[in-house]
Amino acid sequence: MSPVSSVAPVIAIDGPAASGKGTLARRVSQTLGYALLDTGALYRAVGLAMLRAGTDLRDAERATVTARALDAAQIRDLTADPALRQDATAQAASIVSAYPGVRQALLDFQRGFAATPPDGAAGSVLDGRDIGTVICPDAPVKLFVTASVEVRATRRFKELGGAEKGVDFDAVLADMRARDERDTTRAFAPLVPAEDAVVLDTSDLDADAAFDAAMRVIRSHL
Ligand code: DC
Repeated sequence: MSPVSSVAPVIAIDGPAASGKGTLARRVSQTLGYALLDTGALYRAVGLAMLRAGTDLRDAERATVTARALDAAQIRDLTADPALRQDATAQAASIVSAYPGVRQALLDFQRGFAATPPDGAAGSVLDGRDIGTVICPDAPVKLFVTASVEVRATRRFKELGGAEKGVDFDAVLADMRARDERDTTRAFAPLVPAEDAVVLDTSDLDADAAFDAAMRVIRSHL
């Protein structure tokens, strides 16, 4: 299938874990009335299905078969499952997302969403790691949202309840580094900004400031 060149505008929002891209993507989609696809949830759904089946995550073939077997209804059910947001699922997603067969299996679903946004939406917002580089290279707006690994680990630490909940900051930081390392160094569709992406560093920005900066970029490109 060739890259999307639809009339429905696509806003590609890529970036590492806990960069703030998910919150930003949701707010942008609500503001513009665009459909939102959290593509990380697709890889998480594959990881979760593998964990539930007790399958070895190193088995690329089984991961590919699992990804190919996912239909829209299963994706909906798995993405509504609270276990999807657990760190074990995130790590599993990071592992299975490195397999070319898994990425290929999820490609058409993502491009289809962008080409024909659901519910008659005028456009779409896709957030992920390779939207601007691989899935929708012709997207008119590409944002690469990032922040230092320490800032992202701190956000995640707070999200998990912090020291009061017995969360170990060093373990969160190590997990974040491990995931960054896997996501940026994999051979196939690694996490890198597209050449024509606007990089938005949210290390020193709160959610409102990040949103304002993103909307300025979007309005100047659309
Ligand atoms: O955005 P997230 O934390 O839900 O993503 C979970 C994992 O899925 C992430 O570590 C890498 C992978 N992923 C990917 O490879 N490509 C995407 N477009 C989205 C996520």
